[in-house]
Amino acid sequence: MKKDLLTIHDFEKNDLDYILERSSWLKERQKNGTPHHPLQSRTLGMIFEKSSTRTRVSFEVGMYQLGGQALFLSANDLQLGRGEPIADTARTLSRYLDAVMIRTFAQAVVEELARHASIPVINGLTDLHHPCQALADLLTIKEKRGTLAGLKLAYVGDGNNVANSLIQACTKMGMHISIACPRGYEPDATIVGDAMSQANQMGSRLEITPDPFHAAQGADVVYTDVWASMGQEPEQAARMKAFAGFQVNAELMNVAGPDALVMHCLPAHRGEEIAAEVIDGPRSIVFDQAENRLHTQKAVLEMLIAGDHSAT
Ligand code: CP
Ligand code: NVA
Repeated sequence: MKKDLLTIHDFEKNDLDYILERSSWLKERQKNGTPHHPLQSRTLGMIFEKSSTRTRVSFEVGMYQLGGQALFLSANDLQLGRGEPIADTARTLSRYLDAVMIRTFAQAVVEELARHASIPVINGLTDLHHPCQALADLLTIKEKRGTLAGLKLAYVGDGNNVANSLIQACTKMGMHISIACPRGYEPDATIVGDAMSQANQMGSRLEITPDPFHAAQGADVVYTDVWASMGQEPEQAARMKAFAGFQVNAELMNVAGPDALVMHCLPAHRGEEIAAEVIDGPRSIVFDQAENRLHTQKAVLEMLIAGDHSAT
């Protein structure tokens, strides 16, 4: 049975524990210069309907480091862009590739691709989820704090794809998560409802508040993301107004714990969702996050393509 990564919920907690451990192992091996090529002659296809720096480069380099290769497939150049059905695209690509990663708008597209593909499908970001980012974020926090359970993450800003995946990831790992967003910009209600039950099971707290200072109170991590995501450019002006007061700046960081870390999935807009002095300051770990995309995705690729399901 092939396994996909469409949302964080595709993995059980023990899968996530395994991926984090394996990511650290792969990271150390790479840093030592010890070759590890479990994906020789394997190919990952990468379909992009939106721009990317980190996702594209980390997946491509990750496949290369594992002994395989990756193909960049711009949706505009595929027949998909001219109306070929997703189902036919999935069936065709399954005859050439060993896995496919897709970055697109609707989560339904990723789900349809996965339904018709006989190879693993990885969600490289949709309007609703960004699971690969959340995996890298968990690894980064664990590296800095040694543990995840019991820590508090405050997410300040738009209840978007990154927020939704963080909600799923944090509640699964027993972390407390407080989301501060303006009314009307809350994270997805279904995801929040499911995560509330998950948090209850794990003995952790999930809260949604319109008050950034309340969310940041005593936080171990303060996280933010852009106010207008890809595809929301026409709403930019309205969003700038709605999100005034939701900037992660020195004043907000004063409310968080003195050792609180600052995170952002990048790309960032300095002076909008985050002050330059904060993202470029000593508490910021944003480039560690970016680096860890590579290591966590390598663990995912190895697990899904080489069939290393030792955790499940
Ligand atoms: N964080 C992230 O996914 O970055 P890219 O859009 O550059 O891939
Ligand atoms: N929320 C952002 C994340 C980019 C990595 C977007 O969807 O554009």
